[in-house]
Amino acid sequence: MQIVTSPVELQKICLKWRCEGIKVGIVPTMGYFHEGHKNLMRIAREKADKLIVSLFVNPTQFGENEDLDAYPSNHEGDAADAKALGADILFIPEPGSMYADDHATWVEVPQLAQGLCSATRPTHFRGVSTVVTKLLILTLPEYAVFGEKDWQQLAIIRRLTRDLNLPTTIINGPLIREKDGLAMSSRNAYLTQEEREQASHINAGIRAGAEAFEAGERNVEKLKDVIRAHWKQHLPLGKEDYLEFIDPDSIEPVSTITDKARCAVAVYVGKARLLDNWPFYL
Ligand code: PAF
Repeated sequence: MQIVTSPVELQKICLKWRCEGIKVGIVPTMGYFHEGHKNLMRIAREKADKLIVSLFVNPTQFGENEDLDAYPSNHEGDAADAKALGADILFIPEPGSMYADDHATWVEVPQLAQGLCSATRPTHFRGVSTVVTKLLILTLPEYAVFGEKDWQQLAIIRRLTRDLNLPTTIINGPLIREKDGLAMSSRNAYLTQEEREQASHINAGIRAGAEAFEAGERNVEKLKDVIRAHWKQHLPLGKEDYLEFIDPDSIEPVSTITDKARCAVAVYVGKARLLDNWPFYL
């Protein structure tokens, strides 16, 4: 596995591969790998001739008072994991090589970057869309794999890839959970033991809502009541950022489930802001 730090160098390698008909798969990440990341790499490895894993804590997707400086990192462990999973290139650029001092070009998908995570992180998706576009242009991959934990992010990336005619198929990687249901996230590392125990109830609350749905409840406000009641009892350290039922493709909120909806949540637990989502499909 080659470690590449220069975007120019990465682009040179990938252009050559593209000309030779070699199919590239990329897994963009911010590092501190867990089983969710590793699963994305397995998916890409299986489909593509060459696997590129990028590890870049993208500064433009963090707001001013967010955890950019505290974001957990383990470059040595990540490199060992990427190598063991068959990566051909681990791309670890410096922020200065990805963004010139006078960087001024942004990719935005305003239709989908509203509500949910955008409500508390208004510039987040502009940063994500821009860095993902840059990574896709640098590597021109046949496949790019993103996790379903960030459902809104995935919808935005699909849309920008289509709208900008990028020659890449976006593949969903399933959300991977801890045994007790907590969605795997690098930010779980911020949790104290007590917070970690309670954090499993983010998903347990959603599943309580899913049980009510299975029993016939279709009214979203009533389903939210069930979930919030569970959280109130079992997750007193949690603070809801959002709890929404959305159309899985348009990300628009729904008030009654007539076909399929996705329950999407963000909850602050201690220093961590944790995401989860769950299908409510008829
Ligand atoms: O999901 C992430 O880890 C990041 O948002 C991504 C897609 C790597 C862009 O920085």
